[in-house]
Amino acid sequence: MTTASQTINLPRIDLRGFTSPVQFLPRLSEELGIEVWAKRDDLGSVGLAGNKVRKLEMELAHAKALGATHIVTEGSRHSNATRAAAAAAAAIGMKCTLVLCHDEPKEPVGNLLLDALFGADLRLVGDVSWVELARLAEDVIRELEAGGERVYRLPIGSATGRGATSFARAYIEADEQIQAQGATFNTIVHASSAGSTHAGLTLGRAISRKATRIIGVIVAGEVYDDVPGNYLRLANEAASLIAPSISIAPSDLEMTEDYLGEGYGKPAAGVMEAVDLMARLEGIVVDPVYTAKAVAAIIDMARRKTIEGPVLFWHTGGYHAIFDPSYTSTIWSSLARLRDIRL
Ligand SMILES: Cc1ncc(COP(=O)(O)O)c(C=O)c1O
Repeated sequence: MTTASQTINLPRIDLRGFTSPVQFLPRLSEELGIEVWAKRDDLGSVGLAGNKVRKLEMELAHAKALGATHIVTEGSRHSNATRAAAAAAAAIGMKCTLVLCHDEPKEPVGNLLLDALFGADLRLVGDVSWVELARLAEDVIRELEAGGERVYRLPIGSATGRGATSFARAYIEADEQIQAQGATFNTIVHASSAGSTHAGLTLGRAISRKATRIIGVIVAGEVYDDVPGNYLRLANEAASLIAPSISIAPSDLEMTEDYLGEGYGKPAAGVMEAVDLMARLEGIVVDPVYTAKAVAAIIDMARRKTIEGPVLFWHTGGYHAIFDPSYTSTIWSSLARLRDIRL
């Protein structure tokens, strides 16, 4: 059997120190009448884990090789990606500056608190557009370079072909893990925004010559232009780095906006039920911005019988959002109603 590390040998810094488990979810499976497993990328050490850490293992190895001293990236004050970048930079002794948009949360809570805790220099730029945010990040880079720093720019969400290769490796890793447990999976479902997770998993499937259906549940459709085009570009950039004979076609990618609801970080049907079922049946936390939308998709498709099991829910992390008051109050009021809890 070809192992993940034999297949993909680009430089990588090990930031996680362990292989996240693939676990059977017996009680959710019984509830939905379909076998459901989880790949627990929400577990780990550096930066409180999540899918971004995998990408950073590739990106920061590259940054080090180029002699960079300083990481600059941008995102919202809620961003899991910026929090992971701050933590990873701390762990390998690089400086990190984060350019953060939005006005909420006002208080230093959730990922914003963690960004500061991990020692990042925070540039809070208010409620600007994503285009303006990228421009402001460029200004910060110029300023740091003028001061003698060697800056490595991480694009928003670490969405690069190099970052995506980490998810090709991850596909192979999960496939090995499930086979070792005498099982297989026919479908993977994961939360998707900037796209390198989906692009990488799709490439991993092509390298493994498997037919797994991989569904990217779009959670930020309105944030990015040309989502399918970007995903395709990321997948083929990743392929050019690790498997140049492979070409990913548009039809290889499967994304759905059916669970996006009102938009990024906004309510969607089924999200609170997903948070509730995962917590109550499996003791696993999913967050309303990302992973609960993927679980809502699994629940809905299982009920409508439009998904084939066994299903692997790829838990991409990110539950620190629930400690951010803008989400805590919504979760609490829905939960209190669902479970008739009074404080
Ligand atoms: C928890 C979580 N899940 C999923 C995603 C989506 O990952 P990608 O940007 O690779 O589509 C993100 C990225 O923002 C995330 O933070």
